[in-house]
Parts: sequence; structure tokens; C-alpha cells
Amino acid sequence: MKEEVTVNGKDFSVYLTKEEIIGRVWDLGQQITNDYRGKTPIILSVLNGAFIFTADLVRHIELPLNIEFVRLSSYEGTSSTGKLTEVLGLKTDLENQDVIIVEDIVDTGFTLSNFVKTVKSKNPNSVKIVSLLRKPEAISFPVEIDYVGFDIPNDFVLGYGLDYDEVGRELPQIYKLVE
Ligand code: XMP
Ligand code: MG
Repeated sequence: MKEEVTVNGKDFSVYLTKEEIIGRVWDLGQQITNDYRGKTPIILSVLNGAFIFTADLVRHIELPLNIEFVRLSSYEGTSSTGKLTEVLGLKTDLENQDVIIVEDIVDTGFTLSNFVKTVKSKNPNSVKIVSLLRKPEAISFPVEIDYVGFDIPNDFVLGYGLDYDEVGRELPQIYKLVE
């Protein structure tokens, strides 16, 4: 497997190997299995970045699941509210459901903190968040992540679903920008 990749003229080197990732995904799946025993949670996977993580994670959760996908797009609002997050594809009735949001990475927390508000407004029984990656140094919108795969430094990463300008999502490992 490649140790280094070059994307859009920038060099990245391997940061989390395939084995490290799948080992941790297995742990998270076991934790969720134990925490939700007897329930049928709804997985709300945030596209595009979380598609590979979600596919691996659900295969390590030994419970019946509903699986839905949403897209979130952040854009500048026209009023004084500043940035807004639009949620696309949230069709499922979440009332009284146990919702597990699956994200690839939490950076500033902006995207997720807004999305959680939208989900909670639909009166679910519970809402928890699982994120494969988190950058603790970058957090400026507090959001509680219930299951974290890896806390990572504040460097740009790609692979395993994460992209750099839409390039690199298919890479089986996670690579970090070489400074
Ligand atoms: P916020 O700041 O809202 O950002 O928590 C979350 C979104 O920003 C993208 N993001 C990244 N994508 N490598 C990526 O490929 C990174 O290092 C990175 N940091 C943030 C990502 O889309 C995430 O959903
Ligand atoms: Mg994302």
C-alpha cells in the first residue's frame, strides 16, 4: 500500500494504516452494539465523507439498523446570521427513534453542531454522534462526540472517504499533509 501520495501538487504521507483504522472501527462497532442492545437505531450518515466509514462501521454493529444518508452544505447566509447549514435528504420520521449520526471528521464543529439541532428538533428518543476523526485543537463550536475513532492534530487529512478538492476519497488509508 502507498506510503505517500501526491494530490493537486501537495504531498501526503500515511498517518493511519488500514489495520489501525479497521481495528478502531471494530472497537466502535462493539461499543455501539453493547450500548444499543435491544434497540433498532437509525444511522444517519453524512455524505460524502462518511460513506466508507459508515459502510465499515455498520458491518461491525451486531444489531438491526435503519441506515439513511444526508448531505449537509454550509453557505454564507444573506442576513446577519452569517453561515447556515442546509440539510438535504432527511426524509425519515425521527420521532421516538434512537439516532446515531455518523461523521468522518469534526474540525471546528460548525457543521455538526448545527445538524444536531436540526435532528433534535424532530423529537427523537436519543441522539448520539460517532466521528471517525476529531481535531480537538480546531474546535470552536462545542459539540459532544459520543464515539471518537481518533483524535488527530490540526493538519489536513485525506483518504478513507475524506477528500482534498474531491480527490483521494478512494484511498484505503488516511494520509496527512506533509508540511
Ligand atoms: P467543521 O469545521 O464544520 O468541518 O467541523 C467539518 C467538515 O470539514 C471538512 N474537513 C476536512 N476534510 N480533511 C478533509 O478531507 C480534513 O482534514 C478536513 N477537516 C475538515 C469535512 O468535510 C468535514 O465534514
Ligand atoms: Mg464531511
